[in-house]
Amino acid sequence: MSAETVIDSSAAPRHVAVVMDGNGRWAKRRFLPRVAGHKQGLEAVRALIRGCMKHGVECLTIFAFSSENWQRPPDEVSFLMDLFLRALREEVQKLHGNGIRFSAVGDVSVLTEETQKLIRDAESLTRANHQFRLNVAVNYGGRWDLEQAVNRAQLSGDVRTFANHLAFADQPDPDLFIRTGGERRISNFMLWQLAYTELYFTDTLWPDFSEAELAEALKWFATRERRFGKTSDQLRHDSPVTATT
Ligand code: IPE
Ligand code: IPE
Ligand code: MG
Repeated sequence: MSAETVIDSSAAPRHVAVVMDGNGRWAKRRFLPRVAGHKQGLEAVRALIRGCMKHGVECLTIFAFSSENWQRPPDEVSFLMDLFLRALREEVQKLHGNGIRFSAVGDVSVLTEETQKLIRDAESLTRANHQFRLNVAVNYGGRWDLEQAVNRAQLSGDVRTFANHLAFADQPDPDLFIRTGGERRISNFMLWQLAYTELYFTDTLWPDFSEAELAEALKWFATRERRFGKTSDQLRHDSPVTATT
């Protein structure tokens, strides 16, 4: 399938969640410093957003920095934080021009004041955009999300409402999860929301993940039968299925 093929959008996932892994190895193979892979990875993010919009995806969540990534060498952490800051400065107007609503997801309270302000400004500038949603997970962890939601629910006096306090409560659960870089693991991404997500793994390193590769993943997704606990026979007789959680 060519990158130009537009798949029937009725079979497209509404929400795609991506673990962009393999930047360091991409750089190492080229005898470059790891951070060169992160820089190149930003190009692949641009292609991903373009591709998702073209194929009728409504919402995209990308894992940019995990709560565990602070354990990396300080130079690499600084580079990643700086790259995020620069991307916010340089890309937000373009996102806005394309009708994209931007959100940062994660514990942003530990980021620099400047980064927090850019995030707030980007979120308020793009709040009314409905063309597409881009969530960037930064200092995010699935366990952090569960803990903060329970804490907020406790403060509200009704712990049963905890799911309403999760970071993605106002968005559909991901239909398709993509992880590049060859590892077959979740690495503390969207633990609650991935309950019924279709999981797609590829050995391609993140900076090499092209629109054509996205089209491959979407094509694979379109062949999945999503049963949400039911039987195949039931699905044939039922109205369209949705998760009950
Ligand atoms: C993913 O690439 C980017 C981040 C985690 C920020 P890696 O930096 O993990 O690349 P590898 O896995 O070491 O190749
Ligand atoms: C997951 O990648 C986090 C991001 C892509 C931001 P990691 O490279 O941190 O995951 P592990 O350590 O291999 O599980
Ligand atoms: Mg990695």
